[in-house]
Amino acid sequence: MSKTKAAELKAEIFKKVTEYFEAIHRVEREAVFEPGVSKVHYAGRVFDDRDMINLVDSAMDFWLTAGPYARELEKSMREFFGARGFYLVNSGSSANLVMVSTLRAASYKGHLKLGDEVITPAVTFPTTLTPILQNQLVPVFVDAEVGTYNIDPARIEEAIGPKTRAILIPHTLGNPCKMDTIMEIAARKGLVVLEDCCDALGSRFDGKMVGTFGAMASLSFYPAHHMTMGEGGGVVVNNPEFDKIVLSVRDWGRDCWCEPGHSGTCGERFTGTFGKLPKGYDHKYVYSNHGYNLKVTDMQAAVGLSQFDKLAGFIEARKKNFKYYYTELRALEDYLVLPRWEEKADPSWFAFPVTVKQGVDFNSLIQYLEDAKIETRKVFAGNILRQPGFTSIEHRLGGSLENTDTIMDRTFFIGVYPGLTQPMMEFVADTFKGFFRG
Ligand SMILES: Cc1ncc(COP(=O)(O)O)c(C=O)c1O
Repeated sequence: MSKTKAAELKAEIFKKVTEYFEAIHRVEREAVFEPGVSKVHYAGRVFDDRDMINLVDSAMDFWLTAGPYARELEKSMREFFGARGFYLVNSGSSANLVMVSTLRAASYKGHLKLGDEVITPAVTFPTTLTPILQNQLVPVFVDAEVGTYNIDPARIEEAIGPKTRAILIPHTLGNPCKMDTIMEIAARKGLVVLEDCCDALGSRFDGKMVGTFGAMASLSFYPAHHMTMGEGGGVVVNNPEFDKIVLSVRDWGRDCWCEPGHSGTCGERFTGTFGKLPKGYDHKYVYSNHGYNLKVTDMQAAVGLSQFDKLAGFIEARKKNFKYYYTELRALEDYLVLPRWEEKADPSWFAFPVTVKQGVDFNSLIQYLEDAKIETRKVFAGNILRQPGFTSIEHRLGGSLENTDTIMDRTFFIGVYPGLTQPMMEFVADTFKGFFRG
């Protein structure tokens, strides 16, 4: 078939995709909101026909593994962060695994040895912590703050011991940690900083994007997050020393950095000497790190690329929705602790967290909201040390976890995602007020 004919066929198919989107998805999205009957979700994918067309286009190309769309998205993301490198992976959890495993893999350069310690908050997402355990490192748990839900910066220094080498911090629900203090401590104490930005794409501290402070940062593109590709994530690399290792850990641990389908990029495919291998062993099959296969498909990247075009609008909508709730719920400050952020922070919010003050029945409030079909969520694992899979892990405590327990017991969040409409948000604010004022 000629190229022109193929292009015509594609255009026809894409036209049908748009028709399908308009007839099915737009109609569903614009269905009338019925307060108390329709669900107010905490998050959800927000997409258009452009995303569906990209997905169909990549499916028809049938490249399947990471290909042209993945390369384009990695480039766009690298530029967005002004980073040294950006590598797509198949989830935010994988991004955390790659970051920590990269530090371990780089241990021959003196970064992390078996049993070295990593400071991290006890209020966390499970797969922010598990890469530390999987790499046989020891977490040192530090308390979080009620209000910001981030690691308490004042408690970090006292938690540092002779074996502490790194600090892994999530910017909880999009709220930037106090990065000036954290970076100053890290520099003085020689700690590597890793940022979990899975909830915080587009958040800034002192004008600088989170994800660009530490040596590496992780992102998630799961549907609940700022932009989506279904399952997906990425690693931002700011320290050139880690660039090749991230790629290697993601791609089976290989030493070679050829694109899929290419050979001999290094120009030394059959001439090098590696480890105890015979001289000239094929570089494509040399493994210099303990790696995994955490790559994406090009179909995921195709959706990610068109979602990226909408990112600025998504971030604006999240900020606007957050502001609406903040303004409305201020009237309930006798009962609720509203979110707090650092003076220098400009959060790109993942959600709107509240802590229920003493004297208010937490479970009754949650039940009241859920009965009204308003989705609520916990701040992930709460105190991770109380989760069944984590009660007996090797760890050290960097002080008491009093606030962590409060957050586990009395904090929840509602959504601010761009799929919310004004009638939905008014209903949510009225329902909160109705609970307290009857
Ligand atoms: C802070 C944090 N880190 C890591 C993850 C894991 O991301 P994923 O679901 O893409 O594996 C999440 C997921 O929501 C998260 O909130």
